[in-house]
Amino acid sequence: MKWIQEIYKKWHASIAHVFLLHFNVSDTVDSIDSTVEFLRKSPLVADREIIICYNRSAGISFPIPEHRKVLLDELGLKGSDINPLGIDEALPRDPVAALILIEAALRLFFVDSDGESKPKTAVIIDYAETLAPAAELAQMSPGDRTVLTTLLRWARDSQIAELGSPVFLVTENLSDIHPALRSASSRIEAVQVPLPAQEDRQRFIEALAAKYALEDGSANLKDITVTQMARLTAGLKKLHLEDIFLRADTDEVPVTPELVKERKKDIISSEYGDVLQIIDPEVDFSDIGGMRHIKEFFLKNVIRPLREGNLKRCPMGILLPGPAGTGKTVLGEAVAKESGINCCSLNLAKIMDKWVGSSEANLEKALKCVEALSPAIVLVDEIDQAGLSRDNSGDSGVSNRLFKRLLEFMSDTRHRGRVVFIGLTNRPDKMDAALKRPGRFDKKLPVLPPDAEERADIYRVICKKYSIACSLSEEELQEAAEATEEGYTGAEIEALVLKAAEVAEDAGSEAIQAEHIRYALDVYRPTTQSIEEMTSLALEECNDLELLPPAYRQRLAEKRVRKLQVVGESGQSRRKRNL
Ligand SMILES: Nc1ncnc2c1ncn2[C@@H]1O[C@H](COP(=O)(O)OP(=O)(O)O)[C@@H](O)[C@H]1O
Ligand SMILES: [Mg+2]
Repeated sequence: MKWIQEIYKKWHASIAHVFLLHFNVSDTVDSIDSTVEFLRKSPLVADREIIICYNRSAGISFPIPEHRKVLLDELGLKGSDINPLGIDEALPRDPVAALILIEAALRLFFVDSDGESKPKTAVIIDYAETLAPAAELAQMSPGDRTVLTTLLRWARDSQIAELGSPVFLVTENLSDIHPALRSASSRIEAVQVPLPAQEDRQRFIEALAAKYALEDGSANLKDITVTQMARLTAGLKKLHLEDIFLRADTDEVPVTPELVKERKKDIISSEYGDVLQIIDPEVDFSDIGGMRHIKEFFLKNVIRPLREGNLKRCPMGILLPGPAGTGKTVLGEAVAKESGINCCSLNLAKIMDKWVGSSEANLEKALKCVEALSPAIVLVDEIDQAGLSRDNSGDSGVSNRLFKRLLEFMSDTRHRGRVVFIGLTNRPDKMDAALKRPGRFDKKLPVLPPDAEERADIYRVICKKYSIACSLSEEELQEAAEATEEGYTGAEIEALVLKAAEVAEDAGSEAIQAEHIRYALDVYRPTTQSIEEMTSLALEECNDLELLPPAYRQRLAEKRVRKLQVVGESGQSRRKRNL
C-alpha cells in the first residue's frame, strides 16, 4: 500500500502531521472495509491512547469505547453516557465546538522513556468536504470560516506540529475541499488513495475466487483466468470486484468475460455518469474502407509503440478533423481495438451541462479513472462542442478552470504513451487554440472524403459489415465508385449500399447487381452538407503534409503557390502605385 507508506514517511520525517486523503476512500483496503477503518488499524493511529473519529453527521465517536473516558478524564470533563442511538450527547456535534474539543485532545502528550514528548491522540475526520467545502471565502458562513481556519491552524500550530498528533481528513473528491487546505503552503499533505493496480486486483481476485469457490473447490470462473480478469477490470474498485463474484454466486452462474465486461460498463457509467464511458470496440481496421495512410500512421505511431512500450514515439494526442460522415468515430474505435488496450470516451459537453456546480469534481474523478485505466485511449468526440475555452465568462470561471485542468492533464508528460487522447471534430476552427498546441493534440490527421479507389473499398467493407451479397465485378464496382461524386463520404456510401440492397431485395435478387447500384445512384440524394467547407477546415489544421493522402498534398501545395502568387502580385501593384 504505497499511499500509507508515503504517509508514514512524511510523518516520521516531520514533514506533515495533517493529511488529506482523497479519491478511492470508500474501497476495501487489504480486506478491511474502508479507508477509515484501515487508518484506524494502522500503526500511526492504532498505538494512540485516544483515537477520535468525527464527521458532521455522527459527531464525535470513539472506535474504542474506553477512549472516551480517557479523554474526558484527561481534559477534566465529566460527561453523561452515550444515548442508545450511539450519539454522544455529552460531546458537541456542531463542528465549531467539536473542533475546539478535538484541538484540546491534539495537545495531549506523554513523555516516553527517552524523555521525548509523544502525542496521545489521533484524529480521523471523514466527509471533510462538508466541514470545509470549496466555496468563496466571502460566501462562507462565520462558522464555516472558523472551521476552515481551525483546520489550517492545526497544520501550522507550532505545539501541535512539534508533537505531531496525526490528523486525517478524508474526502472522495479533492476538488470539493476548500482550496486553502489544498495549497502547498498549508503544510497539509494531500495523499491520493488510488484505484487498485493490476497486481492488487490480481491478488484480490485470487482471494475472491477462493472465497466464492464452487462446491468442488474450483474457482467460479469460465473462459477467463484470474490474470485475464485482473487485466479486464482496470478502473474498478475492489468493492466492484467483490460485487461481480457475489452476483454470480447469487445467480448461480459462472464469472465469464462477458459478465465482467457488462458489469464494468454498468459500474463505470453509474460512477461517472455519462461523462466517461468504457468502450468495448467491435470494429477493427478491416471494417474501415480506404484510409490507408491513416491506418499506417496509427500502426507506426500509436499501436506498435504502445505494444512495444516505445513511449516517446507516441503522440500525447491526435486530432482527427474532417467532414461529418467520413468515419472518424469508427476509426477511433478501430484504433482502440487494434491496440488492444482500454478505451473510453470522455464526454466533455456532459461535464459542463449536467452538473452545474460539481463539474470540476466530476472532471477530476473522470481523469483519475482514465489514469487507472491506462494504458488507455481516450476518445473525445465532437470536441468543438464541449463548450470549453479560456474565455467563457458567463459561468464564474468554471469552464475556464475545467479547461485549464484538462490542458494540464493532457500535457502531463508522465502520461506519454500511457494515455492517448484522440479528438474528433467537424469544426476544428471552433476549438480553442490552446488545445491544438504541441504536447496536447500535437498531431493533426485530417480524415477526408474518400477518392474513387477508397470508395470502392468502402463499398466492399459495407457489404461485409451487413452481410450483403454483392455480385458486382471489379470493373462494375470501380464504375460505381467513379459514379459517386467527389465528396461522397463513407456514411453516404453506406446509405447508398443499403438502398441498393433494398432495391435488390424488392426485385427478388439475392445479391446486389450493377443495375441495383445504378438505380440507387439515380434516386439517392446525399444529405451531408458543407463537405467542401469542412474539408478545407480540416486541411487548414494540418501542419504536416505527410499526414495527407497524395491528392490532397498536391491540392494544399497548389494553394500555397497560389497564395504566394497573390502576395507577389499585390506586392507588384503596390510598387506600381508607388512609382
Ligand atoms: N471509411 C469508412 N469505412 C467504413 N465505414 C465507414 C467509413 N466512413 C464512414 N463509414 C460509415 O459511416 C458511418 C458514419 O461514420 P462516423 O464514424 O460516425 O463518421 P464521423 O464520426 O466522421 O461523422 C459509420 O456507421 C460507418 O459505418
Ligand atoms: Mg462522429
